[in-house]
Amino acid sequence: MNDFTRPEPALPPHRQVRADFVPQEDNTSPAIAQLERERLWPRVWQMACREEEIAQVGNFVTYEILDQSIIVIRVSETAIKAYHNVCPHRGRQLMQGCGSVNKLHCAFHGWQWTLRGELLRVQDREDWNGCSDMADRDLRLAEVRLGRWGGFVFINLDADGEAFDDFIAPVRRALDPLGFEEYRFGWYKTLLLKANWKTAIEAFQESYHVASVHPQYLPVVDELNKSYAEGQHSKHVYLFQRPMGAPSHHTTLPVPADLRAGVAGVLAAFRDWVGDAEGKGQVTARSAAAAQRVLTEVPEGTPPQEVMMAAIGFMLEAAHAQGVQWPRLTPEQTMAAGVDWTVFPNMGLVFAFDGCLVFRARPNGSDPDSCIFDAWSILRLAPQEVPRLQREFYPDWKAREHEIPGLLVQDLRNMEFVQRGLHSLGLKGLRTNPVQEVQVSHLHRVLHRYLYGDDELRA
Ligand code: FES
Ligand SMILES: [Fe+2]
Repeated sequence: MNDFTRPEPALPPHRQVRADFVPQEDNTSPAIAQLERERLWPRVWQMACREEEIAQVGNFVTYEILDQSIIVIRVSETAIKAYHNVCPHRGRQLMQGCGSVNKLHCAFHGWQWTLRGELLRVQDREDWNGCSDMADRDLRLAEVRLGRWGGFVFINLDADGEAFDDFIAPVRRALDPLGFEEYRFGWYKTLLLKANWKTAIEAFQESYHVASVHPQYLPVVDELNKSYAEGQHSKHVYLFQRPMGAPSHHTTLPVPADLRAGVAGVLAAFRDWVGDAEGKGQVTARSAAAAQRVLTEVPEGTPPQEVMMAAIGFMLEAAHAQGVQWPRLTPEQTMAAGVDWTVFPNMGLVFAFDGCLVFRARPNGSDPDSCIFDAWSILRLAPQEVPRLQREFYPDWKAREHEIPGLLVQDLRNMEFVQRGLHSLGLKGLRTNPVQEVQVSHLHRVLHRYLYGDDELRA
């Protein structure tokens, strides 16, 4: 049977999402992947890159989503534009990867455009004399809508869709105080995973798995949390009924009277499990080192809540010594921000102190069991500390597991087994936790809005 005779995959019966139920076929069905290709990706805002990737005028990146490619390019110190990556002459793709140009040039017959997409040159233009739709304005590069928030650049292939400001408003409200636009890449990894793009995002949407998958945190972090929908997006918030540095309520251990080792241990755990060789990851190496001062400079008998305040003081001091500022968040702002966000549909942010892990997952062709997964660390680095951006690609991440922070490896190992399990005939559906896994069910609820046009969430 060849591609012309193979029948289209049948769309499975539509099962509704509930806070405690998600149909697993969303993550396994080729027909649903096809529906996403038609109804989600062409209509939704997607994070294309960080502004720092295109810091200079003429810097560009190409963002690929399925068979669409978009050029994101800085056209002045303040302006960034996005174009469909295609030549209006015979359709050659204009740019590949990333780089720097002073004009856009098609390598096939040499047509050219300014950075702002205006036509500069058509070879032998007089040959078209008398032809229609050949004015300069007809031959501009086709623009793609673009939005900017927190140092991230978003694109939307739908010329008439939702306004970016409406889309991003709930994220702005909660996360603007963190000032992500001041963060810089610590590291940038792209992996091919044998999992649906949603399975990959879902692995970072909840802390319900921490006790089982990341038990190394339990001695120093109480992961009691609640999750919430925020517009199309979602977040979860740690409740901190036990101070940071105290063991999880899932252990039988009491809150110790002396929290110095615990507080130093939290930062050490971030450094050791999420950091690269230099310790950069979800926090800066600078902060992880500064927090260790509580062990020697905070007196025994200091009340537990004050130990973390002292650690934060040391971290701020170390940051200020390098000329790096941190915003002071009120307790209300801290709770509104939470610790983990999903920006619909496919972007995750997991942050602490002065660093953040950014995740992005995209389908890898039409295979619902495969995705392209980006994992980035962005941090409040001093200018002299910002490493040269190196994009590392892992077509087979297991072969280079030792280059990936241990926490991610714990999650990655899990993910591909989840994807296999989702195909089991013995699985009736996913019983999502209605308190701690709202981000998972909400992702599917909003997805169904795009795929089926309904707004569902049955209690
Ligand atoms: S296809 Fe671009 S100039 Fe011909
Ligand atoms: Fe995890």
